Amino acid sequence: MRLGVNIDHIATVRQARRGHAPDPIEAARTCERAGAQSIVCHLREDRRHIQDDDVRRLRQTVQTQLNLEMSIAPSVVAAALAVKPHQVTLVPERRQELTTEGGLDVVRLSSRLQPLIKRFRAQRIDVSLFVDPVAAHVRAARDVGATTIELHTGAYANASTSAGRRRELRSIEKAARLGRQLELAVAAGHGLDYENVSAIVGIGEIEELNIGFSIISRALAVGLERAVGEMVELLGGRGPRSASPARTRL
Ligand code: PXP
Repeated sequence: MRLGVNIDHIATVRQARRGHAPDPIEAARTCERAGAQSIVCHLREDRRHIQDDDVRRLRQTVQTQLNLEMSIAPSVVAAALAVKPHQVTLVPERRQELTTEGGLDVVRLSSRLQPLIKRFRAQRIDVSLFVDPVAAHVRAARDVGATTIELHTGAYANASTSAGRRRELRSIEKAARLGRQLELAVAAGHGLDYENVSAIVGIGEIEELNIGFSIISRALAVGLERAVGEMVELLGGRGPRSASPARTRL
């Protein structure tokens, strides 16, 4: 299973002082060296962490895949089409939220999504839709022309009882199976950490996990290269390509 590392929170720390450090581009290089197969960042409308220039620089330097999370606001769409990342992941966005709270209402937004996805696909940009693990949204994602769905794992991660967690896991399994039957690529993410990730890794239809907060938090204790490498191993991949502590930058 591939790991995409979300580096927004590197930029969150930088924006605390509005300077140059820590640099998300340097962090992306470290993530790739540690085995990440995609770099994810979210260009939010309020630019609270990742800035337009970060996305441009990441597009020039990322060696794996740049996956740009974004809302469907016209100004952000224009920024994305100018940079042409390998993939965009369309997410709902509310200014007041701390992080993306729910999946995209693909059913309600289908008439807006269809032409937008066509514009991205015409530029050879893959389009993923971040959806709750609900059959209607998975089907609608295929109907509007998405190439990938990313299943929202937040309800699973935040479940307060083991019965609730099992129920959410079953929803994710069913949605992943449906996605593959509809020939969509299936990813998942949100709220995954070093403990709750294993059950998701067990779902064979899911090809990629996108993880941010837990990895960046762990990096404060052990360094970014090791934090990413440990997660890569939990996903069944190879660990860091060069795990020497001297090269750990964050
Ligand atoms: N996938 C999507 C679509 C997201 O919006 C986020 C949060 O930015 C993530 C994955 C990563 O979530 P977390 O930071 O909780 O690992």
